Amino acid sequence: MRFANPVLAALLALPLCAQIGRRPARPQVTRPDGPVWQVIRKNCTACHGIDDYAFFALDRDGWQKLLVAKHKDGGEALSDDDRRTVLDWLVAKFGPDSKPFPRTYVPPEITTFFSDPEAKRLLDRACTKCHGLDRVETSRYPEEQWRVIAVDMRERGAQLTDEELERLVEWLGRVWGTNQDK
Ligand code: HEC
Ligand code: HEC
Repeated sequence: MRFANPVLAALLALPLCAQIGRRPARPQVTRPDGPVWQVIRKNCTACHGIDDYAFFALDRDGWQKLLVAKHKDGGEALSDDDRRTVLDWLVAKFGPDSKPFPRTYVPPEITTFFSDPEAKRLLDRACTKCHGLDRVETSRYPEEQWRVIAVDMRERGAQLTDEELERLVEWLGRVWGTNQDK
């Protein structure tokens, strides 16, 4: 260590320690309905799930190029109809105006937890700019899903630090969670 002051050195090293063993949060993509799902199930899900699509925000040309770049057969196996269906859905859901899910968000370890009034204050400040809190209060999700939603909301513009985000996620999981999660 180059730091002369051991206390300062320890402080600087802290965030790194807190991250060891923690993996970046992953997106969760909701299955599309009916015909789109049929096409994706037939052509895509044999090899991997659909969650990773959320890492991208591309126009039609961009999606087409990505599929070619990522797959040896360049998506040759797709019929023209199926390709059109998949691309229509990808562009509608993960188009250039959407916010890609960050590959890098690593949840920090938290040691203090929100009381109900603290959580309410943060929700009022960070969330009500765009929609009512009924979106929260009518939902029940396990903590991991709340993390995905909170990270998604931050990508859309909600102002939250990592600490605030994690405390909120812990509180949401506790108060608006699901029983089977416990
Ligand atoms: C034969 C197996 C296979 C099929 C079928 C397949 N994929 Fe993939 N896909 C892969 C592999 C392997 C990778 C990882 C390639 C890499 O990392 O460079 C990948 C990567 C991707 C990625 C990038 C993921 C990331 O996180 O970077 C996307 C998006 C994607 N596939 C979409 C699709 C879609 C849409 C379909 C159906 C039209 C499909 N895939 C069908 C094997 C497949
Ligand atoms: C910049 C605007 C914006 C802000 C700020 C924002 N949201 Fe959202 N939120 C949206 C939009 C747009 C949707 C609808 C997304 C969709 O339907 O795909 C949404 C949807 C939701 C949903 C429903 C999603 C689901 O899968 O059930 C929840 C829950 C939610 N927001 C919670 C929050 C929370 C908690 C905050 C504050 C931390 C927040 N939002 C801040 C724009 C915002």
